[in-house]
Amino acid sequence: MNREKAMQIVKEQLPEKRYLHSVRVMETAVQLAERFQDDAKKAEMAGIFHDYAKYRPQEELKKIIEEQNMPKELLDFHSELWHGPAGAYLVEQEAGIADKDVLSAITYHTTGRQGMTQLEKIVFLADYIEPGRQFPGLDEVREAAKEDLDEAVLMALRNTISFLMSKRSTIYPDTFHAYNDLVKKTEE
Ligand SMILES: [Fe+2]
Ligand SMILES: [Fe+2]
Repeated sequence: MNREKAMQIVKEQLPEKRYLHSVRVMETAVQLAERFQDDAKKAEMAGIFHDYAKYRPQEELKKIIEEQNMPKELLDFHSELWHGPAGAYLVEQEAGIADKDVLSAITYHTTGRQGMTQLEKIVFLADYIEPGRQFPGLDEVREAAKEDLDEAVLMALRNTISFLMSKRSTIYPDTFHAYNDLVKKTEE
């Protein structure tokens, strides 16, 4: 699928603001893929489609998670986490994206996981640092992203986990697994 077609499909699914975020995530993901020698085309597709299901009804996302045998544990955590895995399913079904690397990058873009693929890291990070974002600690992550993908993803995970803890929110276990994995990996 070419970029224009993908953008058109996503535009129909999202409010303007979220669509523009998706375009910036796509552009950022492509830059990161070029920087870290990944597949720029896959980064482009995963970037534009990553929030495809963000505005679907919660009930629909829940049903997909149940019927497609996705981890039931997701349903015990915040519904904000559901649009990743359920979104990957919808992108495959409705937009015909079959590439497993692209679909897993969509699946894990919110939570991360242990043993993230490079493309998963790229989309996770692009979602965090895209130029429309602004919050404390972000400039450091953007700096790290110029040189070291693992370090930048680790910083983003650390910030996310501390932010959630400061709000007394629950933290999905995969996010801790991603964090622990990268702490070990970056110590080596
Ligand atoms: Fe998202
Ligand atoms: Fe996003």
